[in-house]
Amino acid sequence: MSHKLCVIGGDGIGPEVTAAAVTVLQALTDEVEIVAAEAGWQTFCQRGTSVPEQTLQMIRDCGAALFGAVSSPTQKIDGYRSAILTIRQALQLNANLRPVKSAWCPAHRVRNIDLIIVRENSEGLYVGRETSDGHRAVAEKVVTSLASQRIGSWAARIAADRSRNVLIVHKANVLPVTQGLFRDSVGESIASFARDDGPIDVSERLVDVVAHDLVALPESFDVLVTTNMFGDILSDLAAHWCGGMGRAPSLNIGDDWAVAEPVHGSAPDIAGRGIADPTATILSLSLLARYSWEDSELATRIEQVVTSTINQLPAPTSVSTDHYVQLACKAARELKLPN
Ligand code: NAI
Ligand code: MG
Repeated sequence: MSHKLCVIGGDGIGPEVTAAAVTVLQALTDEVEIVAAEAGWQTFCQRGTSVPEQTLQMIRDCGAALFGAVSSPTQKIDGYRSAILTIRQALQLNANLRPVKSAWCPAHRVRNIDLIIVRENSEGLYVGRETSDGHRAVAEKVVTSLASQRIGSWAARIAADRSRNVLIVHKANVLPVTQGLFRDSVGESIASFARDDGPIDVSERLVDVVAHDLVALPESFDVLVTTNMFGDILSDLAAHWCGGMGRAPSLNIGDDWAVAEPVHGSAPDIAGRGIADPTATILSLSLLARYSWEDSELATRIEQVVTSTINQLPAPTSVSTDHYVQLACKAARELKLPN
């Protein structure tokens, strides 16, 4: 086997979409060995931790993981931290790549959308350092030049395979110290990349204007790079243009490991009903194949399977997971890679 994949279903629809994605992957290739691991709210309730050390070790051993989704309470629970945030930090998965293509939603009225949000994944407000005396609550926001430069070089690398444009999205008019450091460090690392690789056109825009423009002019965007929370919010907004949360994939990636993960959460409203759309999870595997396994042949075929499947389906709102998997496996067997 050439690749090892640690599969973490998690909570709610997480196990449904990861099982579907693994079935489709195995119809396409015999070259992936699968091992299962646990994380999430159920794991916390049973074992007192949302991510057992054994799970982290299994991801390290495999080098790559597929993560479904987990549930997180919105009140503070002593000892609990979101499983995916824990994994991102423990494995230093500094970048989160979140592409959106209108091709993943054939029924959409707006065509020609092909953008990618390159989200800083390790700091900002998501370091989770909050304090409160009951009347005044404070959250610490961390921006470092090192993490900002790293995400800048990811943006440059991705732009180099596209139209060589990067838009830096920030809020340095209100937060000139933290957001200014992010913007300047990202700009420096793109300039440094460009010195070796050729020119990259860099522009910048305030995040609130970007939110408007992602609604009004989504086809005008190419590569956007931004801080952790802005990337989280803008990617849910942009997901509308690829058919909703069930169709938005992502990849968490660092120097040593990668975790593929749909953008959506555990969707308790539809869990157990057999209607979770597995597209986002399958496409996340395509990102993993392209950027972590560096297996562009497999990545392209996964995308072809998805394109073929969604072209045979009605609107994303009426997806039956089993029916989807049947169609996708048929397409996958036709595109199967030789051993
Ligand atoms: P959500 O993303 O789970 O669901 C939002 C809406 O999208 C719901 O209407 C849901 O039915 C729909 N949806 C999501 N995935 C879908 C799919 N594959 N197919 C069809 N429809 C889909 O966000 P929500 O409801 O705000 O959060 C639910 C739980 O998930 C919370 O506990 C939250 O903390 C957690 N969450 C976990 C994430 C993760 O594990 N990375 C990310 C976001 C939220
Ligand atoms: Mg989110």
